[in-house]
Amino acid sequence: MDEAQPRVLDRMAQGLLGTAMDRPEGRMKVTGTAPYAAEYRREGLVHGMLVRSTITRGRVTGIDTEKVQSMDGVIAVMTGGPLVRNPAQGTAHEAPAQSLPEVFYVGQPVALVVAESFEQARHAAQALTVTYDRADGADVDPATASDTETPEDDVLSQGDIDTAMKEAAFAVDTRYTTPPHSSAAMEPHASVASWTDGRLELHGSYQMLRHNVAELADALGVDEADVRIHSPYVGGGFGAKLGIAPEAVAAAHAARELGRPVSVVLTRPQVFEMTMRRSETTQRLRLGSDAEGRLTALGHEDWVSNLPGEAFAEPTAQGTHFLYGGDNRYFAQTLARVHRPCAGSVRAPGEAVGMIALECAMDELAEATGIDPIDLRLRNLPETHPENGLPYSERGLGDCLRDGAAKFGWDTRKPAGTRLEGDWWVGMGVASAVRVNALMNSTARVTLNPDGTALCETDMTDIGTGSYAILTQIVGEMLGLDASQIEVRLGDSDLPKSSGSGGSWGAQSCGSAVFLAAQGIRKALAEKLGVAADDLTLKDGTVTSGNVQHGFADLIDSPLTCEGTLNPGDTADAFSIAGYGAHFAEVGVHRDTGEVRVRRMLGVFSIGRVLNEKTASSQCHGGMIWGIGSALTEEIMHDPSDGRIVNHNLAEYHLPVSLDVPDLDVVLLEDTRDDEANPIQAKGIGELGIAGAAGAIGNAIYNACGVRVRDFPATPDKIF
Ligand code: MOS
Repeated sequence: MDEAQPRVLDRMAQGLLGTAMDRPEGRMKVTGTAPYAAEYRREGLVHGMLVRSTITRGRVTGIDTEKVQSMDGVIAVMTGGPLVRNPAQGTAHEAPAQSLPEVFYVGQPVALVVAESFEQARHAAQALTVTYDRADGADVDPATASDTETPEDDVLSQGDIDTAMKEAAFAVDTRYTTPPHSSAAMEPHASVASWTDGRLELHGSYQMLRHNVAELADALGVDEADVRIHSPYVGGGFGAKLGIAPEAVAAAHAARELGRPVSVVLTRPQVFEMTMRRSETTQRLRLGSDAEGRLTALGHEDWVSNLPGEAFAEPTAQGTHFLYGGDNRYFAQTLARVHRPCAGSVRAPGEAVGMIALECAMDELAEATGIDPIDLRLRNLPETHPENGLPYSERGLGDCLRDGAAKFGWDTRKPAGTRLEGDWWVGMGVASAVRVNALMNSTARVTLNPDGTALCETDMTDIGTGSYAILTQIVGEMLGLDASQIEVRLGDSDLPKSSGSGGSWGAQSCGSAVFLAAQGIRKALAEKLGVAADDLTLKDGTVTSGNVQHGFADLIDSPLTCEGTLNPGDTADAFSIAGYGAHFAEVGVHRDTGEVRVRRMLGVFSIGRVLNEKTASSQCHGGMIWGIGSALTEEIMHDPSDGRIVNHNLAEYHLPVSLDVPDLDVVLLEDTRDDEANPIQAKGIGELGIAGAAGAIGNAIYNACGVRVRDFPATPDKIF
């Protein structure tokens, strides 16, 4: 990394970056005035409703369009064409794995009914008769599926785990299962499409616009230059909006065919079925240690599923590869092909569920060795990456565990099953948190005006995470401006192409691009004064060099624009870089019913530079709440006979509500800026908060009542 680069932000004078600044669009979002995709209106807009397959596997043999065509308001019934497209994950330019008239799962889109109003379209869609030729014997259960693969490339075998397990002083060989999850974003997927002079304009709800443009263009058979997507405000994504979903393709296709703007909004059940689920997992953990609890063997095997032909497989063991040591290691993944709705990235793909199993297994090892769970973890932090030998960049895990223990009162924890308070068994649990840190190519444009206002433009999205806020802060800090002088324009694919929001890479990738663009402006100003950029102080709309102060208007008489591009290749790949943390949970388990209540939680995180204390903490809160859900209630249930999602709504898919969530304490460790990570020394935080959180709760349940739940979620029936 450029030696002059690290900590350059520390020398800035404005004092805006890192503060708990409110989100500029926050009020609009909570008052319902930030327009969401489904709210865009166009002259002559008509409404499409997708029709879902009711069979698991087979072919569409007929669609009785005649009956519905005479219904009030109905304009067209469409089938075939590019209607079926699973949420692609970088699958532009690859043949879609599914295409009509073949049916691959219950809930697959098979037709689109377009009518003058939403209600007419929905009514006609419900009345539409689709006939099928059913295929027999479709596998819907990963446990018994006949088509499975264990890719050799994904197998990692280091040393000899079987012998190491046999010779270990303590050994744990255990299995955990986690259910499928749904992203369940508050805003359902919606697209409003219109074509002008052969160019598509689509208001949608997406996370990564440049990829979404490519996917949509590919699905429609048009040039990327002929597709423009707007997603200025997104009501949650969590992975479900990483790739283009069927409603966007359907709206664009219908609008082109009919020559009218078309809106397609997914119903909540359709969001569950037509977008993506997280795969269920079965995980085998093998941990062997010497007499002092130092790992000699570490194995993590997992079994996941997806539709035939789909490339994605939940990267369950992603964090396990570098979190703990152990010379003898074994990793393998088996993917079962099943006819359930498409599996894909749901928040913190990999660590969200992999860390449940790993961290509960570590708790089992702590119990077996009699070593305190925190001490056990501290004894097993490797010097270097245990598989490729790379040094770690900033890794605050030890501090997170130690500081958290002190703050949480870990020393008051009692042996398992010994603390009964009234009708409640009470216990504490801990888990490490880890999430890989990715960087993605990202470009941004910053314009400084002579009047001291600035504009920041990129196709970056804000999916509720605070992009508008942190980009405002980076520009303000670099150019010495107040937030009120800065406009940040996002969510338009015609703007410079960014990383988008996903995989917790948005803040550091896009933030670095904005930083580099602003640095370009500082350099240009410095050149005008004939000094080095580092010798300038920009504060409150003034530029100071030596003891001479200038206004911007003294230096520029027209807008000054610079672009910044972050190439991941620009940053060091000589380090193992990740976000770290530690979760602490205290639960009560009712002694008669087995009901679990989380009493308090603490998360301590080491995430590099904190760009905005409020939005960063808020991401951690959200992740920990997901941890509560995945520990106790969240579970997609598939009908064992046909694979359909039975609980495809927010009444029966049990997310935690306010009464399930106690006070959550979040600590962001100071001075953990990661000079190796990227120019702004920040690391991803969106997904770190979930990774491990449910493990801490599972471990607290064990500590409370002595019951080890290995099949999540830990519903009361699994406890007593
Ligand atoms: Mo995230 S699951 O990469 O939006």
